[in-house]
Amino acid sequence: MSSNKEETIQLESRKAQHVKLVVEEEVGVDNVTNGFELFEVVPKSIPNTDYHKISLTTSFLSHSFTAPVLVAGMTGGYPEAQKINLSLARVCSKLGIPMGVGSQRAMVVNHDMIPTYDVKKEVPDVFLIGNLGLVQFSENFTLDDYFFAQEKIDADAMALHVNAFQELCQPEGDVNFTGAWDWLEKICQNSSVPVVGKEVGSGIGWEEVKKMQEIGCAAVDVGGSGGTSWAKIEIMRHEGDDPPFSLDDPTLRWGIPTSFATWEATEKTTIPIISTGGISHGLMAAKALAMGANMVGIARPVLKALMNGGEKEAETWLVYFIETIKRVMFLMGVSNIKDLRKQKDMLIPTGRAFQWLTRRKFI
Ligand SMILES: Cc1cc2nc3c(=O)[nH]c(=O)nc-3n(C[C@H](O)[C@H](O)[C@H](O)COP(=O)(O)O)c2cc1C
Repeated sequence: MSSNKEETIQLESRKAQHVKLVVEEEVGVDNVTNGFELFEVVPKSIPNTDYHKISLTTSFLSHSFTAPVLVAGMTGGYPEAQKINLSLARVCSKLGIPMGVGSQRAMVVNHDMIPTYDVKKEVPDVFLIGNLGLVQFSENFTLDDYFFAQEKIDADAMALHVNAFQELCQPEGDVNFTGAWDWLEKICQNSSVPVVGKEVGSGIGWEEVKKMQEIGCAAVDVGGSGGTSWAKIEIMRHEGDDPPFSLDDPTLRWGIPTSFATWEATEKTTIPIISTGGISHGLMAAKALAMGANMVGIARPVLKALMNGGEKEAETWLVYFIETIKRVMFLMGVSNIKDLRKQKDMLIPTGRAFQWLTRRKFI
């Protein structure tokens, strides 16, 4: 692909604006939650386990990690992003958990941006998940662009994100997803590293997760609603430019809450599931894992901690988060992640979650 100056400038400023808005503004949608609070846990009064012997180590994509937690892909593609990604890489490497980078479109378009994603030069042992938007392939990306993105940063896996709602809310958005399924299959067939299908806040129903499994994805990040809303962020960026929805438009509530999507995917498919979207506390994470998720993903809370308090703060936030999962495991009477992932029967869906799961014939 040839470099296009206007596109480069647009991509750089958009990624910078995203970080600023996510850190400074309220970017969740009012009264929309990821639904984990609707699932009650049956406690164990006699846990029959030793808290000090509880292990969170787990395996994901054939690698071993100290906890089933990953920092979801966020940034890259403008000069300051290099510092953010490097900080996240150092923290993740220290804690023994994987991290993703944000969309690498900017470095495919402008090769000068490669260092903003290329954290392995300084932190070679971090497990790195690269990232491209699937819609880019319906537009003009080729398999060579995919290989370039993966190889230049030595990504251990590649996330292909789908974000139809976000694109719809950008005047410059790419809204032609024609052929995207075929592209995802082609990429899975040709990739030398595992491919992760990834939503960014609208969630994926089990029917599409199953299809992703069938065409060769190695894992799916169900990216449900209730966390950072990309539709809202794009509308905030474009207030005054006549965006497709106003900030109080009910369409902003679009999507499957993360907990519902996690329940569905873990019940109907056997592919490893990442549960991301509004997971801001270890209790939510423990519930996602008890449903059967393999990993939980966190984006905004870690970025906020990093931007407000530096690497130390991001690390402290993650350590507390992981420690809370361990505490909940103790109260549930399980001593390892394998057993935690078998605890779906100990979760009781209430209210809207019960109605959703009944209507979708899970109950
Ligand atoms: C600043 C920022 C930038 C993001 N950029 C990307 C991106 O380029 N590609 C992607 O797949 N997801 C991106 N995401 C989405 C996250 O990976 C995640 O799916 C979403 O934010 C929900 O998680 P959260 O509620 O914990 O923030 C970004 C998130 C943040 C906070």
